[in-house]
Amino acid sequence: MLQDKIKQYTGEINAFQATSAADVENYRLKFLVAKGIIKSLFEEFKTVSIEEKRTLGKELNEFKQLAEAKYSEYQSLFSGTSQEVKREEGDLTLPGTGFQMGSRHPLSLVRKEIVEIFKKLGFIVAEGPEIENDWHNFSALNFPPEHPARDMQDTFFVEKQEGNDIALRTHTSSVQVRLMEMGKPPFRAIMPGRVYRNEAISARAHCFFHQVEGLYVDENVSFADLKQTLFHFVQELYGEGTKVRFRPSYFPFTEPSAEMDISCTICKGAGCQLCKHSGWVEILGCGMVDPNVLNNCGIDSKKYSGFAFGMGIERITNLKYEIRDLRLFSENDVRFLSQFETEIV
Ligand code: DAH
Repeated sequence: MLQDKIKQYTGEINAFQATSAADVENYRLKFLVAKGIIKSLFEEFKTVSIEEKRTLGKELNEFKQLAEAKYSEYQSLFSGTSQEVKREEGDLTLPGTGFQMGSRHPLSLVRKEIVEIFKKLGFIVAEGPEIENDWHNFSALNFPPEHPARDMQDTFFVEKQEGNDIALRTHTSSVQVRLMEMGKPPFRAIMPGRVYRNEAISARAHCFFHQVEGLYVDENVSFADLKQTLFHFVQELYGEGTKVRFRPSYFPFTEPSAEMDISCTICKGAGCQLCKHSGWVEILGCGMVDPNVLNNCGIDSKKYSGFAFGMGIERITNLKYEIRDLRLFSENDVRFLSQFETEIV
């Protein structure tokens, strides 16, 4: 009976829920096409009696509207996906859409390289805060109260506090102190990070730059250990045969102190503009940790000794890539940055 069929299909359409574009398409094929259910019900309608036509005509038209409304509702919902499906089903042998890889910042590349070399020697990586107090940045490191490095000209102060000013750290040596305060020897760590100094920005100076600090504290650590460690580091970073030399120097937190030069990476010692025709370029400061520093950090300086060193990552990078202007590192010029190695991690 036509009336029963209309009832049955109305129930079916009301219950219908599409979860994909394919469901919508099946619905259309079942109800709306030329050989579909609606068409067949209208064919059947032609065969019923005139009395029946009066009531069934209205019902049939309402049914048709319901079926079409349901279809257009779902069609708009899935129209996006159905297009995507079509595209996906296109030519799967076509090459994919390429995308451009970025490159690593030269300072990140060099920091990573330095860290890798020391990791192989058993050094762990430690980090500390960039906003530091006077104790960790200066006092614990044996800086006398009147030392010029505490001066407003060098240090960016954040907050004046009686006896313990808060400032942006001026070097990563502060992390040495934090590390030693926190634990017991032996310590063998490298500490990369950003540091700040109140300097006018030029090709050779910047108000922020990056350092890597190194610290080794244990029983019987000697200056020979320091020399051998740094010699090995230089051979790894700049290649076998790079010469090193140590010159006596002064730092409040090391005794004795030294600065280390390497044979010029550009002219290999023959003399050029970069090394000011001396054949040597300075790359780091180092020395034996001053016993006062050990004591300040709660470490028995009679039992333990140690060495420390600190280097500027910019300086190491300049020598490696022959970069002459520090400002390039922070200008974000893509022409500069894209020259460096792209690495997928
Ligand atoms: N902190 C020094 C600086 O900022 C670098 C330095 C020198 C670190 C000698 C050390 C060291 O650990 O032993 O210039």
